[in-house]
Amino acid sequence: MTKKQDNPIGNAIKPHLHPVLLQQLDEAGEASWIDVIRKMEEVYNNVLRYQVELEEKNAALEEAQQFILSILTAMSDVLIVCDRNGMVEEVNRAMLDLLGLAKEAVLGRTFLAFLADEDSKSQAQSFPLRLREQLIHDCEVSFKSADGGFVPVALNCTPRYDTRGRQAGMVLVGRPVGELRKAYHALNQAHEELKLTQQQLIHSEKMASLGRLVAGVAHELNNPISFVLGNVYALQRYRERILTYINAIHGGACAEECEELRKTLRIDRVLLDLGPLIEGTVEGAERTRDIVQDLRRFSAVDKEETKLFDLADVTRNAVHWATRDAKSALRVSLDLPPQPMPVLGTAGQMQQVVVNLVQNAADATLGLRQSTLSISGRVKAGKCLLEFHDNGPGIDASHLSRVFDPFFTTKPVGKGVGLGLSISYGIVERHGGTLSAANHPGGGAVFTLTLPLAESDQADS
Ligand SMILES: Nc1ncnc2c1ncn2[C@@H]1O[C@H](COP(=O)(O)OP(=O)(O)OP(=O)(O)O)[C@@H](O)[C@H]1O
Ligand SMILES: [Mg+2]
Repeated sequence: MTKKQDNPIGNAIKPHLHPVLLQQLDEAGEASWIDVIRKMEEVYNNVLRYQVELEEKNAALEEAQQFILSILTAMSDVLIVCDRNGMVEEVNRAMLDLLGLAKEAVLGRTFLAFLADEDSKSQAQSFPLRLREQLIHDCEVSFKSADGGFVPVALNCTPRYDTRGRQAGMVLVGRPVGELRKAYHALNQAHEELKLTQQQLIHSEKMASLGRLVAGVAHELNNPISFVLGNVYALQRYRERILTYINAIHGGACAEECEELRKTLRIDRVLLDLGPLIEGTVEGAERTRDIVQDLRRFSAVDKEETKLFDLADVTRNAVHWATRDAKSALRVSLDLPPQPMPVLGTAGQMQQVVVNLVQNAADATLGLRQSTLSISGRVKAGKCLLEFHDNGPGIDASHLSRVFDPFFTTKPVGKGVGLGLSISYGIVERHGGTLSAANHPGGGAVFTLTLPLAESDQADS
């Protein structure tokens, strides 16, 4: 009896057992009773453990599902998971939003049903076949959109495998490209506008340099035009005298009268003068034509072709024009090699560079008692080199790195816009050369221009 009282579980179960079973148990003896109770206890414990494990696994599964769902919902790209026949098994929120449909209306239907046009459908139909050989990247198809229109989507498609490694379907991930396209289009437009503005700026800078030259041109043209005019006035007067003389002859004047008239009208002198007068007029007209030809290079807007030119010649011409302005007090000394400095490119643009550098030197030395600019040229190691050294105050050390920046200027409004050097830099760069600024140890600024020397076969041709 004492042993029965020691077994609390046995005692607890006993009142619930059938009296016959109780009797049999009593008869089977104490040992087998304890065995049965232990077995039951073991089974009960096992059940309890399985249940706890099951609940833990359930919770982990739910958490994993929740995790996947949160990722799918957070994705801004659209996602469709299909079976082997293209039936939709899963979609994410972004896809439902794009289609404007509830999940139930999408699951179980073929994904082709949501494509907007035949072209997209025929592309998508080939996905399963193409997937056997390669992954599908950025293939563009249009989906029907919530507003009744369509949304182009760049799709990537990958196969999905089951646990046995067989293809179970495919996963489509895509990004609507409508917005991207719009943004790209706007960017492109802004870029085009910027390019146009830049072109206009370059053009207006060119016009500004042309404007600066106009004063010099006026001065230069004045000479030949005034002597052409003087000659023409003289020719007019001579014509009248000759007409008077011829009319007298045709009017039947006698020989003495004609001789008298010939002397008073100085017909012999007039005839002698006619030759030089006509030659002088032709020369003046030719000079005017040459000046206009020289200037035409400046007025053509970047239409000039690439040609072989002599940098020394271009420099002489540019200096000539840039200093023709009667107001210019700049004395330019040229030290150029006697042999040509052949360069391949556009002479007009290079002329613009030299004019800009001369103009800057003139501005920097303005007001000095003696303004000078020394230009020296050399051909060395396959390069043509030009150095512009003025006797101005030089460039402030803090400005040295900025002088080639567009719109950097230290000049007052109306005097400079700060484009001369930046445009010149671009021109020289396009010619494969370099343009640099420095201060001379002896004072003044030094601008160094190098250009590749044209190959001898280019020069020969
Ligand atoms: N020879 C020079 N000596 C001293 N400073 C110079 C010299 N050349 C250029 N600079 C400096 O570099 C700046 C930029 O020159 P840049 O030719 O680009 O523009 P700008 O002459 O001011 O105007 P723009 O040429 O457009 O009329 C000038 O404002 C000036 O401060
Ligand atoms: Mg300038």
